[in-house]
Amino acid sequence: MTMTTGVAAPPRAAQLDELYVELGRLHMEAGWHKTEPSMYPTPKKKFVPAHWSYGIAHRMLVKAKELVATADAERRNLILYNPIADNTYGTAATLVAAYQMIKGGEVARSHRHTANAMRFILDSGPKAYTVVEGKKVPMEPGDVLLTPNWAWHGHSNDGTDDAYWIDVLDAPLTHLLGPMFFQQYPGQFVQTTNEVAADSPFRFPFDRCAARLARQPETAPGLREIVLGPPFIDTMRIKWRLFAEKSSHAEFETTANCVYAVKSGIGRIVCDGIEIVFGRGDVFVIPAWRKAEWHLDAESYVLRVSDENLLEKLNWLKTTSPGSEMENAGNWPRATF
Ligand SMILES: [Fe+2]
Repeated sequence: MTMTTGVAAPPRAAQLDELYVELGRLHMEAGWHKTEPSMYPTPKKKFVPAHWSYGIAHRMLVKAKELVATADAERRNLILYNPIADNTYGTAATLVAAYQMIKGGEVARSHRHTANAMRFILDSGPKAYTVVEGKKVPMEPGDVLLTPNWAWHGHSNDGTDDAYWIDVLDAPLTHLLGPMFFQQYPGQFVQTTNEVAADSPFRFPFDRCAARLARQPETAPGLREIVLGPPFIDTMRIKWRLFAEKSSHAEFETTANCVYAVKSGIGRIVCDGIEIVFGRGDVFVIPAWRKAEWHLDAESYVLRVSDENLLEKLNWLKTTSPGSEMENAGNWPRATF
């Protein structure tokens, strides 16, 4: 006959609770006990569809120009952050967009950074330039300009009209991965040649893009598209889209984050039940894994900046729509800066 001590072992649940407390003190978490799963069947929709009006941003920049000089601020820009909790920077997970302005006669000092940047010019007079690697590159309305990773760049406006544009950078991705470096140019302004590099490889003038678009077969009824480049930015794919008047388009979920800037036209999208009405100069974002229906009231030129180049390299570019980006992935030529 065996004798018991009379002290029963704690129930299993209580022992597990003790184990979890002990693990916590050791900076460990039981994989079977997480409050949120670390893997899930489809991407989480953390960022939301959102829209920014050029009319409003323009008014804010006009107010700001009386209060802040480019000598005081690195850039006179307005960051378009996605309106979700705990976010004050990214427009989407990997991309940030901003409106920027320099006054006539003003200069924005030169710097460089590891984040890649592109600009889309909304309004400017003659003699507005961005300076990339010592060359003046014109900033004319409709132009798309590239500032790749670690290229010295500044902006100058030798005319009298204020210049307005939209920047898109992969800075949120750079923050996530860690390799952000930034330097101001010694002496403030990068030395430039007087020559204007109108045919710079970093500039895509709108008239040439429009001519390419006109020659392009439709990718869907009422939609023509071109990819800008070479050169290409490793992380961002930049596309012009030309929508026909009164056309409608359905887009399915994609893992790509897409920031849009409107050159001309008017229309609306319905994205996961959120309606966005857009016009000239507006910016909107369709974050990853959101369906969108497009309805165009007028012929519209819309610039699309996505993280597709990055996702494609990682084999993470997926779209639920057959025959679209997913099947075309990998066909684009690539260049390295
Ligand atoms: Fe910059």
